[in-house]
Amino acid sequence: MNVRKILPIVLLAACLIVTACGGGNQPSSGGGGGGSDSNGPSTQSTESGGGSSSGAGKKIVLGFSQVGAESGWRTANTESIKEAAAAAGIELKFSDAQQKQENQIKAIRSFIQQKVDVIAFSPVVESGWETVLREAKEAGIPVILTDRAIDSDDESLYVTFIGSDFVEEGRRAGRWLLEQFKDATEPVNIVELQGTTGSAPAIDRKAGFEEVIRENPNLRIIASQTGDFTRAKGKEVMQSFLQAHKDIDVLYAHNDDMGLGAIQAIEAAGLVPGKDIIIITVDAIRDGMQAAAEGKINFIVECNPLLGPQLMEAVIAVVEGREVPKRIVTEEGAFTSEEAKAALPYRKY
Ligand code: AHR
Repeated sequence: MNVRKILPIVLLAACLIVTACGGGNQPSSGGGGGGSDSNGPSTQSTESGGGSSSGAGKKIVLGFSQVGAESGWRTANTESIKEAAAAAGIELKFSDAQQKQENQIKAIRSFIQQKVDVIAFSPVVESGWETVLREAKEAGIPVILTDRAIDSDDESLYVTFIGSDFVEEGRRAGRWLLEQFKDATEPVNIVELQGTTGSAPAIDRKAGFEEVIRENPNLRIIASQTGDFTRAKGKEVMQSFLQAHKDIDVLYAHNDDMGLGAIQAIEAAGLVPGKDIIIITVDAIRDGMQAAAEGKINFIVECNPLLGPQLMEAVIAVVEGREVPKRIVTEEGAFTSEEAKAALPYRKY
């Protein structure tokens, strides 16, 4: 065989193979994560110029499955993630699960098929993730949990969990209430609006609150129901609480949106929120802080949604093979009405 004759053909073939493989990170349109199915996760891909590389000049590709758009907190969280990815030059494949676990599982499988560099997600509920996370592990794709945790004992299924300490948030709410009613001699009737059933913040905020108020037997929860973290359900459930109980002293809502919905129900019932019924919420988004500044919410525990920059730092570290702490806890505070009034002009979300 004449080597000089076939060498150009071999080189051309090699060039074609390299070009084909170089386009490995296809935009997400296929697989389970596509946006055409109205009940399925809706997926978008965002790219920006320059940026972080996963080796050989290739951009880092991050698949992110978001819970949904149920609250003001979630909207701020989504914006933070999109902005931080663009700033870091990371290609983000973003999928909205519309509050459904099955959609998150579909999206994660789609990210695996697309061979993204890292998968991150905020699990809508705590349990039921092991199978799909094992698939990611077998595919060699690292997973980062943000905002919400999973209840698996197998910590090898994810690299790190970045987010708030929800139990501590519940304790903060409980400590403030304990102090307000430290001299109470009569029963104090509390109603609770829980977050999404089975989600980490609903489980933990309830547990932390109950752990603290247990110290004073006068503080008792007379009704507790989910409002799914939305304003509409918060209003609906509060209406039913008001119909069933004429003697509600305190409302503890696991987020601002449910608290804001409940305020509408309280006002419609001819009562004054913040006076006739003491209100405690969690999140400290702008609308919640505004209601607190007006005295309609008495105490807000902060839950910081701006997790984007920390997430992108972790993604880059993981791709570069650097050590990342197993748990990264977000720092946050709490606001009385007076403090909310002072802080409101400086809030970012
Ligand atoms: O997981 C964080 C919680 O989810 C926020 O407190 C709530 O508003 C959101 O929907």
